[in-house]
Amino acid sequence: MVSLYRSGRPVLEKINWSVQEGERWVIIGPNGAGKTSLLSLISTYIFPTSGSLTVLGNAIGKIDSAQLKPRIGIASSANLDLIEPDERVIDFVLSSAYGIFGRWNEDYDLWDESRAKALLTVFGIKELAERNFASLSEGERKRSIIARSLMSDPELLLMDEPTAGLDLGAREDLLHRISTFASDPSAPASVIVTHHLEEIPAGSTHILVLDKGKIFAEGKIDQILTSQLLSDLYGIKISLEIREGRFFARAY
Ligand SMILES: Nc1ncnc2c1ncn2[C@@H]1O[C@H](COP(=O)(O)OP(=O)(O)OP(=O)(O)O)[C@@H](O)[C@H]1O
Ligand SMILES: [Mg+2]
Repeated sequence: MVSLYRSGRPVLEKINWSVQEGERWVIIGPNGAGKTSLLSLISTYIFPTSGSLTVLGNAIGKIDSAQLKPRIGIASSANLDLIEPDERVIDFVLSSAYGIFGRWNEDYDLWDESRAKALLTVFGIKELAERNFASLSEGERKRSIIARSLMSDPELLLMDEPTAGLDLGAREDLLHRISTFASDPSAPASVIVTHHLEEIPAGSTHILVLDKGKIFAEGKIDQILTSQLLSDLYGIKISLEIREGRFFARAY
C-alpha cells in the first residue's frame, strides 16, 4: 500500500494494488486522478511518501533502483525533461538498456545496436535514428518512446497514453502490435493508461479505475468496465459497447 504527497497534498492515497504475472492491466480515470504518478512510482522515477511498494519482487527503497530500471519498460511522456535536447533518437532508445537517459560511456554491444535499430524499424522511424529527439513531431516522439520501452526486453511494461498523438493508422497499428504481443504467453505483465476506451488493447485482462488519488474500482475488465461505472465516474450518462474485444463509449 502506498501514498504519495506532493506540495503537501495527496496525489495518491492508500493505494493497495498488485499486478500478477501474465496480467494485462488498463488504468483509466479523470485528469489528475494520479495515473501517471502511479506509473512513475512503479518505474522508480519517484518514491512514495509513505507505505511500501514491491516491484518485480524487490522492496523499493531497499535496493538500488538503477538495477531495477532496465527490467521495467516505461513508455511515458513524463520524465522526458531528463533528456538532453541534442540526444539522438538511436541513443534515446539504446540507453534504456541501462535504464538511463543520455549516452555517456556505456559499453553497448552490437546486439544492442541492432536491437535498437530493429525497434526503430518496427515503429516506422528508422530514418529518424540520427535526428535529435527534440526535433521530432508528437507522433514521432511517441513512437520513439514506445521503441525505447521495449529495448531492454522488460519483465514489466508500463505505457502512459501510448496511442495519444498518433495518427489513426499508427494508432490502430500500435494497438494491433500490443494485442499480438500480449497474446504471447511469455510477454511481460503490462499496465496501460488510457483515456479512450477504444484504445484499450484487445486481450486486456484487468482494469484499475482511479479518481482523485484513490481506487474507484478494480478487477477483471469484463466485470468492472460497464456503462454504469463510467456514468458514475464521469458524472454523465455513458453508454458502453463491446465489439470484437474492443470497447466503445459515448455519452447519451
Ligand atoms: N510536483 C507536484 N506538485 C504538486 N502537484 C503535483 C505534482 N505532481 C503531480 N501533481 C498533481 O498530482 C495529481 C495527479 O497527477 P498525475 O499526472 O498523476 O495525473 P493523471 O491521472 O496522469 O492525469 P492526466 O489524465 O491529466 O494525465 C494532479 O492533480 C497533479 O497536479
Ligand atoms: Mg497522466
